[in-house]
Amino acid sequence: MTQKTVLLTGGMGYIGSHTAVELLEAGYEVVLYDNLSNSDINVKVKIQEISNKEVSFIEGDVLDTELLTQTLRDFNVDSVIHFAGLKAVGESVEKPIDYFENNITGSISLLKAMKKSGVKKIVFSSSATVYGEPEYLPYDEEHPTSAVNPYGRSKLHIEEILKDVCESDKYFSAICLRYFNPVGAHESGLIGEDPKDTPNNLMPYIAQVALGKLKELNIFGNDYPTIDGTGVRDYIHVMDLASGHLKALNFFNKNSGWHAFNLGTGSGTSVLELVKTFEEVNQITIHYKITNRRLGDVAESYANPNKANRFLRWSAEKGIKNMCYDTWKFKKNSYQI
Ligand code: WQD
Repeated sequence: MTQKTVLLTGGMGYIGSHTAVELLEAGYEVVLYDNLSNSDINVKVKIQEISNKEVSFIEGDVLDTELLTQTLRDFNVDSVIHFAGLKAVGESVEKPIDYFENNITGSISLLKAMKKSGVKKIVFSSSATVYGEPEYLPYDEEHPTSAVNPYGRSKLHIEEILKDVCESDKYFSAICLRYFNPVGAHESGLIGEDPKDTPNNLMPYIAQVALGKLKELNIFGNDYPTIDGTGVRDYIHVMDLASGHLKALNFFNKNSGWHAFNLGTGSGTSVLELVKTFEEVNQITIHYKITNRRLGDVAESYANPNKANRFLRWSAEKGIKNMCYDTWKFKKNSYQI
């Protein structure tokens, strides 16, 4: 029997590349579709090296509906996982039009291509950011949604567009995976998060400080009502996240329509706890100083993952130590330390 083919937009990026490995190992054929705006061509070779399987790569932009349509047809694609998009919250405030064009217009372009080529299943990279300020914690999928910046608004709009598309076509299915805070890297150390600019997120910033490329970490506030005053987040290992996508594809076998699932561990870790764990596990000192709170940050954010546990038969397995270890292993490997 020929295996089903999955197209991964943004497949050369951080979460896309790890998901590609997971799908190849589960027997899927994988097509990576990426414009390489925040990724590297070498990722393809690394994915093949880890999985010992061939993967196809098409260099293209999601705004290019024609190339997408052609790719979906040429490879006889069964389902799409849509990772491609811009993802820096701060930048989205400065360049909202770029965010709406790449994320929303890009998704519409993809949906048009899917319609033209008869592909009816999509898994979408959403974010816990769609919950806005917490009205209660942990966040479950019933928590009200709201957008607090253009990046979050783009994710929320795409979720709603997908809902309308599912309503209009009973054979169309969409799963929105609401990621909490993805960190870590593949255990081989061959692929991981490699931001082209100075990182905004905590774990990549810690890794740059560990490498000596940045002097010290700024901890944004230690006066939050949390365990030690620093912000609490639900960090999730990227390979756990990858396996959530595999489970989402399985879910299509017996279910249709629109669904949203949290992908998180269910437990929170503070900034200081993460720094201490990184230091202990990797035997390295992370210099830091406490600075003012960052605008728009909430004190705590963590998932209720019960819905994904129950309906996707998925749960996160790797803990904070693993996340810190694998992050550093990838960095050491990339910089040959
Ligand atoms: C985590 C904690 C910071 C950096 C953001 C987006 C979200 C999602 C993931 C992306 C907070 C603290 C951070 C630093 C620090 N989307 N921190 N010093 O803010 O939970 O989520 O990224 O695709 O939409 O909002 O993640 O890693 O930026 O911050 O003290 O240099 O670390 O205040 O408590 P966040 P983060």
